[in-house]
Amino acid sequence: MTVLNVRIKATKESSYPIIIEENILEKAYEYILKYTNAKRFLVVTNDKIFNLYGEYLRNDNSEFIVLPDGEVYKSMDYLNKILDKALEIKLERKDAIIALGGGVIGDMAGFAAAIYQRGIDFIQIPTTLLAQVDSSVGGKVAVNHKLGKNMLGAFYQPKLVLSDTNVLKTLDERQFKTGLSEVIKYAFIEKTCNAEENYNFYEFLKENKEKICRKDTKALKELITICCKLKSAVVNQDEKEKGLRAILNFGHTYAHAIENITNYEKYTHGEAVSIGMKLIFDLALSLGKISEEYYKDAISLIKEYDLVTSLDFTPDKEKFYEAMKSDKKVSNQSIVFVMPKNRKEVEIENNIDKKHILQGI
Ligand code: NAD
Ligand code: GLY
Repeated sequence: MTVLNVRIKATKESSYPIIIEENILEKAYEYILKYTNAKRFLVVTNDKIFNLYGEYLRNDNSEFIVLPDGEVYKSMDYLNKILDKALEIKLERKDAIIALGGGVIGDMAGFAAAIYQRGIDFIQIPTTLLAQVDSSVGGKVAVNHKLGKNMLGAFYQPKLVLSDTNVLKTLDERQFKTGLSEVIKYAFIEKTCNAEENYNFYEFLKENKEKICRKDTKALKELITICCKLKSAVVNQDEKEKGLRAILNFGHTYAHAIENITNYEKYTHGEAVSIGMKLIFDLALSLGKISEEYYKDAISLIKEYDLVTSLDFTPDKEKFYEAMKSDKKVSNQSIVFVMPKNRKEVEIENNIDKKHILQGI
């Protein structure tokens, strides 16, 4: 079993464990009761995950709210349904909300926990690779608004994250690859994360590709652990994204525009991120920010994992640019990029002219 402690420099009490283990779901309440004083639990999940794993969270003190499956339900309407349920079952302030699912469920359940009675305990049980390496860690919780993704939310840290590597076996190939995009992102930003240890994650991904792709438990555990360590190092330094935390959005400036102009339907988040990473490497190369050698090596890593690297249509450039400008990462009207600098290093850049930004689209 691997236990990591996420520390948040600014608020000592926000320190919490991430436990990564095979078959941990079977013992979920043993751990939950160790880390919260909650007496009753509202488990938020969707119909698909409920059918697969709901039984593990059922006990005399738990109630469920089962939402429909999909990003389109990550909305205020469905957040209200969670809150209605919490009120109906008279969930109290000392009780807790458990998120059992991928990033959609985690983000919504976390936001509900953040605002229900001004905040109750929250436990993350992430069931997708993306959620285990990214969304369950760091406390960003949100729902979408029709004018923008994740526009309504909070920073609200969980009390505990339980990552069961076994649940990844039921993820389909497309969703597994979606998670791999966020995984590979860490290889390109590792040095800038400024973590205490050097994990050589870039090399780890190259050396362990075959094991990772066949979902070898040991390799996945190591991979999830390194990603969580890198993310928690960043969150520890900058919980509320005043600066450094933005590097976790490597590839996302393009990705968010891709998702926006395709109505969040054509590509998964991870697919948009892998295309976005290719586009930012193209931009960096054309601006002379990185060497041709690093460019080739980085693109080959993305391709080795067989991730999508280009759009299969030609978007309207003006519409694409408008989508980039309406993202919440825009600062003072300027589009913010996480730019590759050297191997495993990035820096934040803005003031890049429109012609360059759009040249690869
Ligand atoms: P998701 O939650 O929609 O899950 C993807 C699909 O996999 C769904 O159909 C889901 O039902 C299914 N699924 C989940 N677990 C499964 C399992 N074990 N077996 C079989 N099927 C399973 O998508 P996601 O990729 O996990 O998360 C995307 C969301 O995460 C987006 O809304 C994004 O904005 C958010 N996100 C948040 C953060 C953050 O820091 N809070 C970071 C990255 C992404
Ligand atoms: N996924 C980006 C962040 O947590 O900041």
